[in-house]
Amino acid sequence: MTHSSSAPLASLARIGKTYGDGDTEVVALADADLSINPGEILLIEGPSGSGKTTLISILGLLLKPSRGSVFVGGRDVTALPERALPKIRAETFGFVFQGFNLFPALTALENVALAIRMKGGRHPEHEARRLLAAVGLETRMHHLPANLSGGQKQRVAIARALGGNPPIILGDEPTAALDTKTALGVMDLLRTLATEQGRAVVVVTHDPRLERFADRVARVEDGRVIAIDTLAHAA
Ligand SMILES: Nc1ncnc2c1ncn2[C@@H]1O[C@H](COP(=O)(O)OP(=O)(O)OP(=O)(O)O)[C@@H](O)[C@H]1O
Ligand SMILES: [Mg+2]
Repeated sequence: MTHSSSAPLASLARIGKTYGDGDTEVVALADADLSINPGEILLIEGPSGSGKTTLISILGLLLKPSRGSVFVGGRDVTALPERALPKIRAETFGFVFQGFNLFPALTALENVALAIRMKGGRHPEHEARRLLAAVGLETRMHHLPANLSGGQKQRVAIARALGGNPPIILGDEPTAALDTKTALGVMDLLRTLATEQGRAVVVVTHDPRLERFADRVARVEDGRVIAIDTLAHAA
């Protein structure tokens, strides 16, 4: 099944982002363009400081661009008031970012179920159990984050990102803390969601193990997307 001829799920047009001002000014993105297509896994690669986290944060409506436009489902959301964004964000994106942001007082199961409930998803507890099993955590569901390893916390964060079935899953180094077997298992799950459900997965990574699962690689340098390569096995 291919979705590549459909309209993009989201896109960035001529995005610029400047942090600070005067002496502390940093141009993080200069003029970046990117489209996210249904059914694809898109990797974002580039040197440290090139703007990858900034780019994916703007795409996920976590950060406002200084210039340019963000489109979600064909709609320009750049000029919308701040209060309109949480709903669009929750309906569109699942996030797996560094630092996990799990609630320390809630078990793995409660963390995932809460996220599903907040997105208005159905049967949150049942769904949370299913997702935790899919990331290999069926025997750790009732543990608090403090009693999980780094890789296990990362998998809870991945299960939480998948809750509520968002059309776009965004990850910033989501497999960095995982051993090879777990990392490949997670990517296999994401590949299935993309191919069978037409969802898009956008992942910032330095991890060459991920390329075999991906359709395209966007290369970021100095705040620009300098190339987008279609991987040979996906062409
Ligand atoms: N909140 C901030 N305030 C000021 N400068 C920032 C801020 N966040 C990022 N920067 C700067 O913007 C540039 C791009 O940062 P960004 O985090 O997007 O890079 P990155 O490609 O994700 O790097 P890494 O691979 O190290 O995670 C860097 O020069 C960084 O120092
Ligand atoms: Mg980063």
